[in-house]
Amino acid sequence: MPRRPLIAGNWKMNGLGEDGARLAGALRELMTAAPDAPFDMMVAPPFTLIGRVAEILSGSGIELGGQDCHGEASGAHTGDISAPMLADLGCRYVIVGHSERRTGHGDTDALVRAKARAGLDAGLTAIVCIGETEAERDGGKTLDVVAQQLGQSLPPGADGANTVIAYEPVWAIGTGRTPTGEEVRDVHDFIRARLVDTLGGDEAGMTRILYGGSMKPGNAAEFLKLADVDGGLIGGASLEAEDFWAIAQGLPLAISSVPD
Ligand code: 13P
Repeated sequence: MPRRPLIAGNWKMNGLGEDGARLAGALRELMTAAPDAPFDMMVAPPFTLIGRVAEILSGSGIELGGQDCHGEASGAHTGDISAPMLADLGCRYVIVGHSERRTGHGDTDALVRAKARAGLDAGLTAIVCIGETEAERDGGKTLDVVAQQLGQSLPPGADGANTVIAYEPVWAIGTGRTPTGEEVRDVHDFIRARLVDTLGGDEAGMTRILYGGSMKPGNAAEFLKLADVDGGLIGGASLEAEDFWAIAQGLPLAISSVPD
């Protein structure tokens, strides 16, 4: 079964009410004008905007996601948001293990796994982020790091339907620098092979693997044309509706003809 591409926007800590409403409204218009768009689209606004954006995107076909969640469903965790809360707001996805959480908040692989599991328990699809730092790449450790994060961040019960992998080299995030297409292809091929080992061939074949890191309209097609790149996780360029939409247009025609 072909994998349906996913174009995912991570708004990070950006936007007040009016900004989010404007962006969501513009995306809604674009999606409404393309009812047969051959890809899934998801945006992950800051928690404060999810409710408002959910109302605007309702019925548009654009899905919502959270940028993180707690590993437990409820309890005394001041300031945290649980996966059932995200689901309650209408989210279908939750991003876990983003490098900005791993480095800024000390999220370990074990914690990422717990968060992903909490997401699955709440009926969400977990987008599990992995990727090497610049020093790790320079040290020739990219595949080791990716293997370790993948092996330890995937929760029991993960499968091709409830889990998406996002390969985001840390040094490419927000820098304007990207790996070459060949480098992305090598890592995605490697991830797919590891998924075959852990999930089995059928589930691995259904699992979407996204590329993220300075993806823009001008470079998206180079990555999206690769056989094991099943979409993108986009930060900065997802804050402009036209850019985000243009990235989706970089999907190759072969993938564009994939049926529902
Ligand atoms: P940029 O697209 O801004 O590099 O961010 C990528 C990212 O971190 C998405 O999660």
